[in-house]
Formats: sequence, C-alpha cells, structure tokens
Amino acid sequence: MNNDISSVSSDVRLLLEYYKILGFEYLPVSLRTADEKPDICGPQITLLQDFSKKVSVCTRCKLSKGRKNVVFGEGNPDAELLFIGEAPGREEDIQGRPFVGEAGALLTRLIEKMGLQRSSVYIANIIKCRPPMNRDPDSEEIETCRPYLEKQIDIINPEVIITLGRIALQALMNDPGLKITAMRGNFLEYRNVPLMPTFHPAYLLRNPKDKWLTWNDMKKVLERTSMA
Ligand code: URA
Ligand code: URA
Repeated sequence: MNNDISSVSSDVRLLLEYYKILGFEYLPVSLRTADEKPDICGPQITLLQDFSKKVSVCTRCKLSKGRKNVVFGEGNPDAELLFIGEAPGREEDIQGRPFVGEAGALLTRLIEKMGLQRSSVYIANIIKCRPPMNRDPDSEEIETCRPYLEKQIDIINPEVIITLGRIALQALMNDPGLKITAMRGNFLEYRNVPLMPTFHPAYLLRNPKDKWLTWNDMKKVLERTSMA
C-alpha cells in the first residue's frame, strides 16, 4: 500500500517537473472524473507548440509583410472553452498575444466572471496577422488562414467554441449572411462542437448596455460544459 502511494507521488512529481521544464506556470489540466475527456494534454502541448513555430514564419498572404508578430493564440492546450476573435489589433501585433488591449481586458473580466482564469481557456483569432488600420479581414486572408485555426481546434478539441462578434461568426461558419444580433445566444454546431456566438468585447465597450446579453450567453456555455 505504502509502495503504491510513493510510486504515484513520484509519478506526479515527474509530471510536474516535466511541465516546469516546458515553461508552464500553471497546470494545463483540470480535475475530471474517470469517464470524462481523457487527459492527453502532454501531446497537445507539444503539437500546439510545434505548430505555433511553423505558423510564426507564415508568408502565405499579404498581411505577413506589415505585421510585427504572428498572433497564434494562447492558453490551455486542453481547454474546455475556446474563444475566437477576429484579428490582432495594434497592441496584439506588438506583443504577439491575442486580446491584450482594451477589448482584451473586458474579455479577461468576462472569463473571470465565469469563475475561470484566462489561462484555463484558449484564446485565438480567425486570422493571425493584423490587417492595416484594423480593417476587416478580406475573404482571401480568412481562407488562407483557415487551416491554421482548424488545426488549432482539432488539437485543443474544446467542449464549446465561443465566437466573438460578427466576423468570427461568419468566418467560422463560412456564411457571410449570418447576423450577429439574430444569432447570438443560440448554440450552433461547428464540426460536432457546440458553438455559441456572442458579441465582440470591442462592441460591448461601445455598447455597455448589451453586456448582460453576453453574460446570459456565457451562462448557457457554462451549463453546457462539465465545469458547471
Ligand atoms: N480584437 C480581436 O478580434 N482579436 C484580438 O486579438 C484583439 C482584438
Ligand atoms: N457587430 C459586430 O461586428 N460585432 C458585434 O459583436 C456586434 C455588432
């Protein structure tokens, strides 16, 4: 009996040391019961890190010429929730991280209001490079970048995807006719993964009276996951 315990604790110590070597400051795992999603986060970390290196030198579209950094995305490779925005803005381009400006601060507050930490979810964008003057991404840029997002979704395999704003909804669902005001708050499906469209945090900064709608959408998301 004692031997069993000491062998488990040495396994746990090895695992923690492994994450430390990888540079993690948090543990990208959550406690699950045995029959839930299997814990395959080791390979997920490696797959995402290798893939991020590949994407960081992408020159497939014209946005690569004006960018400072590719904004691949960040967070827990084993996340239940995947938030998808539109495109990096000025601050994101400088830092190489998604949602670090004013809209990002609102997104972080929303995630925390959901009882989560920003580092426990994953945050990405439809396109990985900043369009000049923050214009909307064009369809060529969206299509060129789409395989990157698709591979991220495959690796992370989230329980729920949350699209932020009109562009992310239309781009991911491949339907430029979708209206964010009509669609938000109701689950759609993206390749068998439930998808909740909600407002973009930048829209909510301009229209704070609509924040309660996004909060209602996030309550539905929480109810749909094993975290509730
Ligand atoms: N807006 C987005 O859509 N994505 C970001 O990363 C930042 C702002
Ligand atoms: N229009 C958008 O593009 N996004 C929103 O979130 C709301 C209106």
